Amino acid sequence: DKGNHRHFMEKEIHEQPEVISHTLSHYIDFAERTTKSDAIPFDFANLDRIAISACGTAYLAGLVSKYWFERLARLPVDIDIASEFRYREMPLSKRSAALFVSQSGETADTLASLRYCRQQGVAIGAIVNVQESTIARESDGIFPTLAGPEIGVASTKAFTCQLSVLASLALRAAKERGTISAEEEKAHVRALTEAPRYTSQVLKLEQQVEKVARELTHYKHVLYLGRDTNYPLAMEGALKLKEISYIHAEGYAAGELKHGPIALIDENMPVIVIAPHDHIFDKTVSNMQEVAARGGKIILITDRKGAERAGIDTLETIVMPDVPQFVAPIVYALPIQMLAYYTAVFMGTDVDQPRNLAKSVTVE
Ligand code: F6R
Repeated sequence: DKGNHRHFMEKEIHEQPEVISHTLSHYIDFAERTTKSDAIPFDFANLDRIAISACGTAYLAGLVSKYWFERLARLPVDIDIASEFRYREMPLSKRSAALFVSQSGETADTLASLRYCRQQGVAIGAIVNVQESTIARESDGIFPTLAGPEIGVASTKAFTCQLSVLASLALRAAKERGTISAEEEKAHVRALTEAPRYTSQVLKLEQQVEKVARELTHYKHVLYLGRDTNYPLAMEGALKLKEISYIHAEGYAAGELKHGPIALIDENMPVIVIAPHDHIFDKTVSNMQEVAARGGKIILITDRKGAERAGIDTLETIVMPDVPQFVAPIVYALPIQMLAYYTAVFMGTDVDQPRNLAKSVTVE
């Protein structure tokens, strides 16, 4: 049932404040401001690596978490697309653990990767939305995303719930490995606790996002740029846009611009830059200057401080609420989902059932 919404995708975008909160409550003790310790099949303190594999949007959630695990828990992460991981015969030590991320829990390549890790004898955890799925059944431990059924083929609420679980796990790992202080842990937990509220604020930016979406319908190509955790988000924005609006889009690490894609920049390819005012903001501003100098049109997604300091003419600047850097990926996922959604609506495509795509990819 779509309720008052035109499409399941729109409904699922709007459910995010609630389902993120529900998912977090499984991992976070809000009153004690700490992560819950139960049901983790591996001892983070004794691990020297984690291997994460997944496909599509779930892979991009895993890629965001690499920054979290490495930065907060000093735990190296090998992250792979499952269709590559399953064939590349990666050596895994006994002190590795493997994590699989899947909404459906049935994705063929992700399941095959899990079975490879099973043969290698490492502990296996699964972040799944469907708890009765094959991937869930074959894992040592299940980390559920409590997003509820996701009907729209383009993943939205499952993605932000995957991020919420991974953020909680990274915090837990940091605590067990003694790499963050009790103070820092509390601050990060508080930030996570506020994430649902930030996402509801973002939903109110609808009109401005619609305006940008209307503009995007005039183009054949769109480039998304970001650094750090905004790099996987840039790829997620591009994936979402191409799969439902059929506009060609690419997501790049902003620092890679001058290593190739800058050749494409002209007034016919808008560039969407995801850049909250963080430790690396100035670097992204120089990339925006390079785009502007070549006549590229910029759509900047940033916060108040970023908007003040960018000093660049943009086609549009979407000003997001001020959020702690740790939870920014969860919050910044929304404007890129909304942008893809409205663009597809204006293009008149079948938003919930895009051509050639299936919700669950059980063949390779
Ligand atoms: C994109 C999308 C796909 C899935 C991918 C993995 O919007 O939905 O890229 O994320 O097919 O599916 P699951 O998570 O079911 O393994």
